[in-house]
Amino acid sequence: MAQAFRSPFSIKAKYMKKITLFLMMAWACGQALAAPALSPKEAATATELAKNNGCLSCHALDEKIVGPAYSKVAAKYGDDKDAAVSLAQSIRNGSQGKWGRIPMPSHGNMSNEDILLLARWVMSTHK
Ligand code: HEC
Repeated sequence: MAQAFRSPFSIKAKYMKKITLFLMMAWACGQALAAPALSPKEAATATELAKNNGCLSCHALDEKIVGPAYSKVAAKYGDDKDAAVSLAQSIRNGSQGKWGRIPMPSHGNMSNEDILLLARWVMSTHK
């Protein structure tokens, strides 16, 4: 008989917990797909690379200098899973006509590994 008197609220609370957990997990997965996560160490290395290779004389995170803001680049390609790879190509070979009339010079002297890290770093600035 005690069963019959169980408050409907406690049942609801139990489901709410499950639903909240589910939503949090879905959100976390979405985040992981949208912005391939960089470890703090990778992010620090990427920032150094960007400084040492002159990227930051033409780019900033949030405003256009000579080249587009990195957050704009990340937003433009945000849904594209292969974005980092195609950005790496743009960085290595140079790029022209995607953002305006000023071209980006090529960076053929950098290692593929460094370039890919920079590309992933740019994508991680997506808000
Ligand atoms: C001389 C200035 C200059 C330098 C140095 C420079 N960029 Fe660029 N960058 C640009 C310009 C201009 C564009 C836009 C090119 C276009 O319209 O296609 C651009 C575009 C980009 C894009 C977007 C490419 C795309 O496919 O949409 C990325 C990512 C990028 N730069 C990253 C970098 C990184 C990383 C470095 C350093 C290794 C770097 N840039 C150095 C000027 C520069």
